[in-house]
Amino acid sequence: MIDTMDHQPFASTRQLDHRYEGLLKVTGRAKYAAEFPVEKVAYAYVVQATIPSGSITSIDQEAAEHASGVFSVITPFNAPKLTVPGNVNILQDTNVLYNGQPIAVVVARSLPEAELAAKLLRIEYKEETARVDFNALLKNARPPKRGGSSRRGDPDASLAKATVVVDQVYSTPIQNHNPMEPHATIASWDGGKLNVYDATQGISGVQGSLARAFSIQPTDVHVECPYTGGGFGTKGYVWSQTILAAMAARVAQRPVKLVLGREQMFGPVGSRPNTYQHIKLAASADGKLLLQQHDSTCYSSVMSDWIESAAGQTALLYDSESLSTSHNVVEMNLGMGTWMRAPGEATGSVGLEIALDELAEKLNIDPIQLRLINYAEKDPRQGHPWSSKQLRECYTQAAERFGWSKRGAKPGQMREGNKLIGYGMATANYGAGRSPSSAVVRILPNGRVYVGIGTQDLGTGTYTILAQTAADTLGMDPGLVDVKLGDTNLPRSGGSGGSTTAASVCPAVYDATLQAKLKLAQLAAGDAKSPLHGEAAENLVTKDGKIFCKSDPSKSETITTLIARNGNTPVEATATSELPKDRDSFSSHSWGAIFAEVAVDADTHMVQVRRMVGTYDIGTLINQKTGTNQLIGGVVWGIGMALHEETIIDTTNGRTVNESFAEYHVPVNADVHHIDVTAVGIPDYKFNPLGSRGIGEIGITGAAAAIANAIYNATGKRVRDLPITLDKIMQA
Ligand code: MOS
Repeated sequence: MIDTMDHQPFASTRQLDHRYEGLLKVTGRAKYAAEFPVEKVAYAYVVQATIPSGSITSIDQEAAEHASGVFSVITPFNAPKLTVPGNVNILQDTNVLYNGQPIAVVVARSLPEAELAAKLLRIEYKEETARVDFNALLKNARPPKRGGSSRRGDPDASLAKATVVVDQVYSTPIQNHNPMEPHATIASWDGGKLNVYDATQGISGVQGSLARAFSIQPTDVHVECPYTGGGFGTKGYVWSQTILAAMAARVAQRPVKLVLGREQMFGPVGSRPNTYQHIKLAASADGKLLLQQHDSTCYSSVMSDWIESAAGQTALLYDSESLSTSHNVVEMNLGMGTWMRAPGEATGSVGLEIALDELAEKLNIDPIQLRLINYAEKDPRQGHPWSSKQLRECYTQAAERFGWSKRGAKPGQMREGNKLIGYGMATANYGAGRSPSSAVVRILPNGRVYVGIGTQDLGTGTYTILAQTAADTLGMDPGLVDVKLGDTNLPRSGGSGGSTTAASVCPAVYDATLQAKLKLAQLAAGDAKSPLHGEAAENLVTKDGKIFCKSDPSKSETITTLIARNGNTPVEATATSELPKDRDSFSSHSWGAIFAEVAVDADTHMVQVRRMVGTYDIGTLINQKTGTNQLIGGVVWGIGMALHEETIIDTTNGRTVNESFAEYHVPVNADVHHIDVTAVGIPDYKFNPLGSRGIGEIGITGAAAAIANAIYNATGKRVRDLPITLDKIMQA
């Protein structure tokens, strides 16, 4: 990392006020994985198991094979033998582990023909007893195979000292990601080389998994994904359909397109596990937390343990004399659990932040005040300092903008006709991480700049902020920067998950741009025909297409003139961003305060979330539009979590009952009213040279709890089981 103390490249002087790829998207020219024209492409349809547990005894595929347009029918009985990379079902055995598991693939001339032929398959099963009822199995919960618990102080002694205790269970349902773009892959083989277009959050992960599956070199797998239509975690893992598409292309000996139907997104591509959270908060009369105990149980697929780590953040969010957290799992015949937007924090903040609201009421202390009393000045886990923490500022600013002082502390005090009005708040928090990343930057003879990096844009704004980063560093118009992403031929970058992308890729592009600029300066300094000849390269700077001497700006020439005189070849640099050497000596988190106002109909108990106001400490807000957009998106997810989203499993057969947008409810425009988000904007330069931490996930954290707390403030009804539907309010 080149350190430039006098240089603040991300001071937002070169902001793009529109999305870099916005025009391409609204005019339909931005191509998503399934939209690439590939000659003679065939269509694959994934057939799913209809039992939750057992094995396939036979598949009669005669009729399907002879159906119109069918090229191949692939089943566990005839599928090529592959290495199984991860927890995916790729037809390597006849076991059925969950209802909906991929068990066959039909390849045909068209999608309708593939679907029709799939219906002609006669599949026989040997069924076994399935584990499909979470509540019935809860008593059989077991610790996960790895990790999951933490402890501080003496919980029993702390509890014994307490004046006030909250001891409750909070629960959240299974949820499924529903990005607008479903999972999609086009695969084609060219001899031993594989080309795929894949909808993904990590092109290099797809490359690696496919190479492992087919036992070929990663360099023989080329993955492209210039645009991803939303991921939220489900596209962070390489699921079966990507590998099945490549398998089908090999078997059918032609390019194959495989797009999952919306109903196929519920199970085979990961779910957010449900949580059953037992929380005990014990405090002294002055509000000091003596004990935080958080024990969370979630479902885990029989395929492999995956924990929704709801109790994780409890160990760091507030100070307390003692702490005890644990995770347990209930093994079930369901598809794998996986990351879903703020995995752990989204669900865990529901339990912890509602429990704090209950504690505040018992103590008769304002909810913000209670959080301030227990403010963690250092990371309670190991005593490390925070690289930057402006959470106090978040509480103050958001409370002020929201008008928290007008809140009636007792429930049911605020009324408008037959509407009960309630205010609620919660803390938001998400860890900040980054991964090493490489980028190439070329200053071109025509005055434009090319940036290439093997990351991907999930719709979040990666193109935009990278154009800005290069433009800021060279002092140029971001409109003159061309950004190329989503291709494994580009320098390697990490997956886009855990809110790490911006913090990882911007430093790489920054470094590569600085190095290209230095090379340009050296070119000028060493060129006898340049007015800058003989100057020290470090003294040369660039701005608006010119290179000049810092101390004497009259000594200058245009970059295009300089390059033209020197063989008209691009000035290029590749750089890999390094993580800070002292990174183990501090903790980095993003913080926020989120407030909600609800209106609850006194007769029907219908809830309307009228306003959400959030202030976030995410370090530097790199781009106003795309950054704010992500925070708002996160808060909207919080509304969904509080009021709508729930994957319902049939407890007789383990099937998802509501696998469509008609029945799996997400917030629509009528549910989303005023959302006002701001950033404190104090850079965290200890974390990285941008001063910027991740932003993709923190918006959902705390948001559902703030709404639940507002509903209590409006009605006096405490619903601890999400989503908060009107029947639950009625019965509370
Ligand atoms: Mo995110 S759940 O890390 O895509």
